[in-house]
Amino acid sequence: MKKLTIGAIKKRKEALPLVMITAYDAIFARLFSESADIILVGDSLNMSFGGNPDTLSVTMDQMLYHTNAVCKGAPDTFVIIDMPFGTYTDETSAFNNAMRVYRETPADAVKIEGGADKANIIRHLTANGIAVCGHIGLLPQAFRAEGGYKIKGKTEDEALSLICDAQAVEAAGAFCMVIEGVKADVAARVAKSVSIPVIGIGAGNGVDGQVLVFSDMLGFYEPFVPKFVKQYINGAKKVKEAVAAYTIEVQNREFPDENYIY
Ligand code: KIV
Repeated sequence: MKKLTIGAIKKRKEALPLVMITAYDAIFARLFSESADIILVGDSLNMSFGGNPDTLSVTMDQMLYHTNAVCKGAPDTFVIIDMPFGTYTDETSAFNNAMRVYRETPADAVKIEGGADKANIIRHLTANGIAVCGHIGLLPQAFRAEGGYKIKGKTEDEALSLICDAQAVEAAGAFCMVIEGVKADVAARVAKSVSIPVIGIGAGNGVDGQVLVFSDMLGFYEPFVPKFVKQYINGAKKVKEAVAAYTIEVQNREFPDENYIY
């Protein structure tokens, strides 16, 4: 598939929904690049790959390492990298860290959590040549400050505040945004309130695309499956069955047979 440009992504507003999926390494990025429009090197890798309880401790260096791996696996796919917690607290640190993304990886854009409160940061980055994807609604990097992972859009005030966030992110120059953990009807209103694509996760079907964490949608993570996740395969079961079969064959000296020897 030909890599999408930012212009082509913007044209998908209210058109064919955009398909975004996370990846953290070259092997999966290569597989996903056959269908997905955009690969997100999400800071969710700190949990899914790193085994940590949340996203907060991932570093810029770790994100850059995984982004390079993803870009090698999917050189013809548009890649967005999450800016880690604490790397965009002011305009200068945000630009210095985002500049590292462009200098040290071939990634196409960065993603920043926050709405109107982050508009000055997004504006500074976009004014200085960095492509920015916004991220509004449930903000995983704010879960301690907010006392948990809170679904947004439950009241009219929250709905209006989300619309305000989306419009501020667009006005600051972002080319698209993620909306996470928002009531479906409110997410649809938010999407209608801006002219750039709004890509949902746990935000219903009235938006301009969907993103899922790959290990969730491929069923690799068993302890907890969020309500909004559809598991397209039971990856954990398939992997466990394969490794169990390998174990039995090794123990019975059935593997390697004559087909697998030099
Ligand atoms: O880190 C991540 O994977 C994300 C998605 C949940 C959108 O930000």
